[in-house]
Amino acid sequence: MKLSRMLGGKSLIFGRQSQFLELERPLAIRGRDGNRKIWLRAATQCFKTLPTAERLSTNTHFAATMASASSKDAYRLYPPVCGGALEDIVSLTPVGEPRRKITTATIREKKLHHEPITCLTTYDYATARLVDEAGIDIALVGDSLAMTMLGYENTLSVTVDEMLHHVKAVRRGVKDALLIADMPYGSYQADPNEAIHNAARFVKEGGAEAVKIEGGEKRVDVIRRVIDAEIPVAGHIGLTPQSVNVMGGYKVQGKTLNEIEQLMRDAVALDRAGVACIYVEGIPREVAAMITAEIETPTIGIGAGPDCDGQVLVFHDLVNLTFGHPAKFVRRYGDAAALITQSVLAFKADVVSHQFPNDSESYHLPKETRAALETVLQRKQSLRR
Ligand code: KIV
Repeated sequence: MKLSRMLGGKSLIFGRQSQFLELERPLAIRGRDGNRKIWLRAATQCFKTLPTAERLSTNTHFAATMASASSKDAYRLYPPVCGGALEDIVSLTPVGEPRRKITTATIREKKLHHEPITCLTTYDYATARLVDEAGIDIALVGDSLAMTMLGYENTLSVTVDEMLHHVKAVRRGVKDALLIADMPYGSYQADPNEAIHNAARFVKEGGAEAVKIEGGEKRVDVIRRVIDAEIPVAGHIGLTPQSVNVMGGYKVQGKTLNEIEQLMRDAVALDRAGVACIYVEGIPREVAAMITAEIETPTIGIGAGPDCDGQVLVFHDLVNLTFGHPAKFVRRYGDAAALITQSVLAFKADVVSHQFPNDSESYHLPKETRAALETVLQRKQSLRR
């Protein structure tokens, strides 16, 4: 298919006879690390459809054209969408929509406008960057990292210090998404002052913008105290993994009328306390829908059906890195396990068969040094004879 047709024959910008680059929409100028860059989303999509060789030459040509285009021309063709002058830095990294910083207010607005909220757990710098750059609204450093990253049996053993280590890494990778850190088991139950102290560590040391606390009605007092200390809190009700021993396993909650009533009371109590959002886990979709309709706070579901205001998945579930049988609500969107295994096996085979590294992957001595070295070696050899 011709590119021009594919993009609906919209404005032609730069190109060569056979390699037109067209943009569906104007350039978006967006800041990252203080540098203004021009992100060419549509053009990048365009590149992806070209064969590799063509893509390379088109890429070079395009970058060169942009570098030499005067700001005036570029301005005339593509008025900036977020202010600032065009610069010569061109990045062809695929990115999502040009975005603004997601805050707790943004997710409330999203609920008001019936726009679904997206959330993924993230635990390290690399995946945090990918999640953020894909335009996910909330990066949650969940205590599920106890299992996914640290190999513990459940979430109960992970400590504040271990959580902080990951929150700091995610902070370095996340720019736009709202960063929420999970308060681990034992860090908020005993004493509200200790809860505030630990929550403040996540903000001050980890750079989190909110903390998550499991539990409904019975946690409202401590949640209010943390919010009073200017720290936004995300609630978490339903199947709360930190209560695994009390629940007698990871069981769907809210199946009886009494349980439904308790869940409604939990949700309303958190709503009144002013939490930023409520994670709703492992409950029947009908109950999640009732809660979502009843309260103003956005609900973010996991195993709670499609009627919540947003959805969250554990990153490792999403890409098949969790080992074992996935829960009913998990949808796998990729197979990182297969990709990693394939790459590791290929590396091993290449090393064992002396095919890695090859000459082009090696450093070389400068000519003169090599000549001098050969002379020295020859001299040594002749002395030995
Ligand atoms: O720790 C976690 O990953 C969570 C989400 C599943 C909500 O709490």
